[in-house]
Amino acid sequence: DARLLVDTFQRRITYLRLSVTDRCDLRCTYCMPEKMKFLPRAEVLSLEELHQLSLAFIARGVRRIRLTGGEPLVRRDMIDLVKALGKELGRGLDELTLTTNGTRLADHAEALASAGVRRINVSLDTRDPVLFERLTRRNQLSQVLEGIAAAQSAGLQVKLNTVALKGLNEDELPDLIAWAHGQRHDVTLIETMPLGEVDGDRIDHYLPLGGVKDSLEARWTLTPSGHRTGGPARYFDIGETGGRLGLITPLTNNFCEGCNRLRVTATGQLYPCLGGGERVDLRAALRSGDPAVRLDAALDEAMRIKPEKHHFRIEARGAEPAQPRHMSMTGG
Ligand code: GTP
Ligand code: 5AD
Ligand code: SF4
Repeated sequence: DARLLVDTFQRRITYLRLSVTDRCDLRCTYCMPEKMKFLPRAEVLSLEELHQLSLAFIARGVRRIRLTGGEPLVRRDMIDLVKALGKELGRGLDELTLTTNGTRLADHAEALASAGVRRINVSLDTRDPVLFERLTRRNQLSQVLEGIAAAQSAGLQVKLNTVALKGLNEDELPDLIAWAHGQRHDVTLIETMPLGEVDGDRIDHYLPLGGVKDSLEARWTLTPSGHRTGGPARYFDIGETGGRLGLITPLTNNFCEGCNRLRVTATGQLYPCLGGGERVDLRAALRSGDPAVRLDAALDEAMRIKPEKHHFRIEARGAEPAQPRHMSMTGG
């Protein structure tokens, strides 16, 4: 079918990460500087445009949409978009999800579940309030934990995202995983990627996950899991906790061969790869006289330019960043 999205490396694209805002109520030190400059609101796509864009992707065979940010739940009309997209579930769309920092999740968990969301990913690097405030520069741990609990009560399956940070949450990782598995949450550990300028040097806290896995294996039995999302995580079942642990290793173990995804920023820029490279302007297509035709052509162009893989490397101290865009722009 010529309408399906297949790139030049014969990868089927079935998954869209759609950022609905670059704004965030936290300031995670590995993600943004304290004085982060956000985009003027006029630059950001409207709710109608986000909806129209999503339908264009679904028409081309995208079956899963993950809403991202910044923090998606700081956008006021976010739940309206979730409701609108929820109507596409079972009609081309198989899954609608989001990645959130959890601070406002308690307010929205029920609405997300009623709209058809089944699982969500919540960022949580630590359960220690002092470290949480050091890492996020905000004092919101209790709201996040309430958000996670509310999501679970609403019937959402929760995956926790934990950026592994040397000398920060490194020693807490086994406890965090054991706690999460006790609550029946999956966990993925993430290597910090060089995306955008931050105040410090990410290399100071960069922690390769190979060593983390070795030390977890000294304590627990990890067996490769059959669980696949087409995402970067390689999952393991932990015998002792009965839970699932994913490792996301952009620096130490490339996973791009099986890539199934595209990402769109809140201003409608399509980046075929998180690792940078060319982009396609979907906003210009949307706002043109013939959006249907222009969007189709833009998606064909994206298939031509999607790179084989990202080239993230942790450079020597001071040599960062390798890549100018912040995670809060591209949504991960
Ligand atoms: P599912 O596969 O749907 O479970 O989600 P996910 O784990 O891919 O999404 P999530 O938003 O929770 O992202 C977890 C981490 O994976 C974040 O640090 C993302 O930036 C990273 N990530 C997601 N997709 C890609 C990708 O294509 N390339 C790279 N390098 N990182 C990615
Ligand atoms: N490298 C790796 N992960 C990051 N995240 C934010 N910035 C970075 C980075 N530079 C994580 C967040 C969130 C997920 C979407 O990406 O913690 O869980
Ligand atoms: Fe916000 Fe997520 Fe970036 Fe933290 S990592 S500042 S929660 S966008």
